[in-house]
Amino acid sequence: MMLKDDKIKIGRNDPCPCGSGKKYKRCCLNAKNPKPVNLEKLYSQKYDIRLKHSKDIEGIRAAGELVIETLDLMEDNIKVGVTTDVLNTIAHEFAIKHNAIPAPLNYRGFPKSICTSINEVICHGIPENRALADGDIINVDITLIYNGYYADASKTYFVGTPDADAKKIVSVAAQSLKAAMTMLVPGNTIGDIGWAIQKYAENEKCSVVREFVGHGVGFDFHEPPHVPHYGKKGDGIVLVPGMVFTVEPMINLGKADLFVAGDNWTAITHDRKLSAQFEQTFLITEDGFESLTPFDL
Ligand code: MF3
Ligand code: CO
Ligand code: CO
Repeated sequence: MMLKDDKIKIGRNDPCPCGSGKKYKRCCLNAKNPKPVNLEKLYSQKYDIRLKHSKDIEGIRAAGELVIETLDLMEDNIKVGVTTDVLNTIAHEFAIKHNAIPAPLNYRGFPKSICTSINEVICHGIPENRALADGDIINVDITLIYNGYYADASKTYFVGTPDADAKKIVSVAAQSLKAAMTMLVPGNTIGDIGWAIQKYAENEKCSVVREFVGHGVGFDFHEPPHVPHYGKKGDGIVLVPGMVFTVEPMINLGKADLFVAGDNWTAITHDRKLSAQFEQTFLITEDGFESLTPFDL
């Protein structure tokens, strides 16, 4: 295992890394024969992060395959004139047909099965009776529960012919996720992920949304940790094998500021300029990562 142990800072009063449940100072800190680190217990006690075992990973991967099939189905159906309600129905029926549950439906009162976020909508757009127009960009975010396991991914698509702004923001959002992927190695930190995204996106004169973050996923829709899409190199929790979380940078063409509409869900850029997003569910492995919702960027 590639873990750089010295990067996990353990305070005297923290839970002991051996997993005894005692304080470090009362357990292995000064022990002659400190017990080996139990990452699973340490991450659970210190961060409330549940590391995933191979059976869990298989379950999340299977959910992820259905998520990707749904996104492919969305791509086939996104055309000028199609309403987001129709996309919602297609995705919902696909899920049910495959014994999966669309996680957004009734989640904290969310009324639909997918999120559809058009143009200046950053995320959490609610499907409605609105037809897609030529030149729109639309993010479709799919989360499915399959055999009790959650997988979460999204893509931003062009409707008809994109203009230069649309091409620019969709490209920068996709490449931001790609930049994040270079950081997904055990021993790196959550801060390294945000740092890589922020550095790339801001260098392209775009901005990174602060209010919404990636998240642990698998046993539940949103688990610890938070995965901000900005940050400092070396900050935050050290990545270890068995962690499963999303990275889902929301990148704005203008400023990062947003507001939430009266429906209490739809997040919109304050300056009404375009926003785009790509999301995948990642597993940290012994020597890098695996996407459990893979698609090309
Ligand atoms: N899928 C979104 C995410 O990436 C969450 C949507 S919450 C909902 O975390 F209620 F709007 F569906
Ligand atoms: Co997510
Ligand atoms: Co999502």
